[in-house]
Amino acid sequence: MDYKQIVADAIAVAVPDLAVADILAKIEVPKDSSMGDFAFPTFVLAKVKRMAPQQIAAELATQIDQTNFKSVQAAGPYVNFFLNQADFGADVLHNVLSNNAYGSNADGEAGHITIDMSSPNIAKPMSMGHLRSTVIGNSIANIASANGYQPVKINHLGDWGTQFGKLMSAYKRWGSKEEVTNDPINTLVKYYVRFHEEAKENPELDDEGRAWFKKLEDGDPEARELWSWFREESLKEFMEIYDMLDIKFDSFAGEAFYNDKMDEIVDILTEKDLLHESKGAMVVDLEKYNLNVAMIQRTDGATLYITRDLAAALFRKRNYDFVKSLYVVGGEQRNHFMQLKAVLKEAGFAWSDDIEHIPFGLITVGGKKLSTRSGRIILLKDVLNDSISLAAKQIEEKNPELPNRDVVAHEVGTGAVVFHDLMNERNGSFDFNLEDVVRFEGDTGPYVQYTNARAQSILRKAGMPELDLTNLSIDDEGVWETEKLLADYGEVVRRAWRDREPSVIAKYALTLSRAFNKYYGNSKILTEDAQLNARLALVQSVSQVLTNALDILGVKAPKEM
Ligand code: ARG
Repeated sequence: MDYKQIVADAIAVAVPDLAVADILAKIEVPKDSSMGDFAFPTFVLAKVKRMAPQQIAAELATQIDQTNFKSVQAAGPYVNFFLNQADFGADVLHNVLSNNAYGSNADGEAGHITIDMSSPNIAKPMSMGHLRSTVIGNSIANIASANGYQPVKINHLGDWGTQFGKLMSAYKRWGSKEEVTNDPINTLVKYYVRFHEEAKENPELDDEGRAWFKKLEDGDPEARELWSWFREESLKEFMEIYDMLDIKFDSFAGEAFYNDKMDEIVDILTEKDLLHESKGAMVVDLEKYNLNVAMIQRTDGATLYITRDLAAALFRKRNYDFVKSLYVVGGEQRNHFMQLKAVLKEAGFAWSDDIEHIPFGLITVGGKKLSTRSGRIILLKDVLNDSISLAAKQIEEKNPELPNRDVVAHEVGTGAVVFHDLMNERNGSFDFNLEDVVRFEGDTGPYVQYTNARAQSILRKAGMPELDLTNLSIDDEGVWETEKLLADYGEVVRRAWRDREPSVIAKYALTLSRAFNKYYGNSKILTEDAQLNARLALVQSVSQVLTNALDILGVKAPKEM
């Protein structure tokens, strides 16, 4: 079934000097399908054969056993292979429909992949940046599963640090329990902002904030109680967003979880003689990695973000025995993760090589950067709700009779935002304009969802027949393009994992949708003739693969919209 392999094998028989693997690596897929389905460039043979590549190609084309091909032809320095399209297509459809998990593989051998993702900060709104981490992380987890790994999704909540001391001091001064309960994050942010403003005039506040944090670290009951209350209220709001996106986590062990696990890290670093004092603080030198020193303990003995990450890394290795430990965190923390890896490496943990920072770029809105300080925070919930409304409006126009309109609008609206985020290469930056994102045409999630719904509607019109998988040849003009794309899916899933890149899946879903819509526009699928069964099998296959691809992206595939 692997046609590239069949081509390579056929070449190998005619050219015993080359290993099959080397041939495989050289085989190309011509851009222009009139040049064949696969092409073998003969340049590699020029030296051995002492002949011009054109001559080699001409000779080779006559030597290759043509049984498995429609034809094999020389064109300049290339040997072009034309497949028996109908046979190939039938084979592909059979493969798709006889395997629900078509496209998945078992390469990962059930190894554990921890994925640090989302990880918003308590008492602050979840930003578009956290959205990126959430949806990219979720999709990478699904991609890992599709490649035979077992993902573990960890929300490393930002629930510890000096800012909590400030927040407590602010709450004690101006806070109201009712206000916080009614609108937790906005209220806490308001206190925090006021604290900073007043601290400019009144430096006592900073001391007070520090004192509260110290109380918290020392386990003072009042401080602990406030802390868990702020945490709980914030988490409730985050959960609303995770529920909207239908994203689940395996662990919410945030920074605070490592409070009792940092001594061990400090001990290990001390034992290895890696910690030394610098202006009262304890640091690890990372000069040989071309990095700044990593501060592990402050002058007052307090630990830092990286100290908690060191403890978390060790805990994850022990608890999950990962084969890879991924961190889906914005590119601005690159330096932090380089330091984290370097310190672990210095400490002698060979598995530090399995730690991978998966950075991503910035989202801008109307060309402007988003930041908390400048007040241009975009509330994620608002974005999702706006997107759902836009989706609902379009459904209203296109399909006013649709049952479950609200559910579908939710699936299309949230799916649009998620898809848009994932179709962009994660390391790039992109601008966000909701109107473009929710359109039913163009490079959007709704377009893919709509294509799938259309495929489902064809099947419904045909009466959802039980398909016969024995004869699936179709000789319609244009069907080939779609079949070839279906055949590629397994490789696409592998590539997405190799590059840790959900956009590979999203772009593929768009390409498959376009190819199918083109075919659909030019042929009469529902004509009652001998190939009706095969055409419906094609429709079913497209729907199955699109649904699977959307599922990997964390986007729902409504059957009607
Ligand atoms: N809470 C951090 C932030 O919002 C992200 C945490 C990322 N994960 C980690 N293990 N450092 O910037």
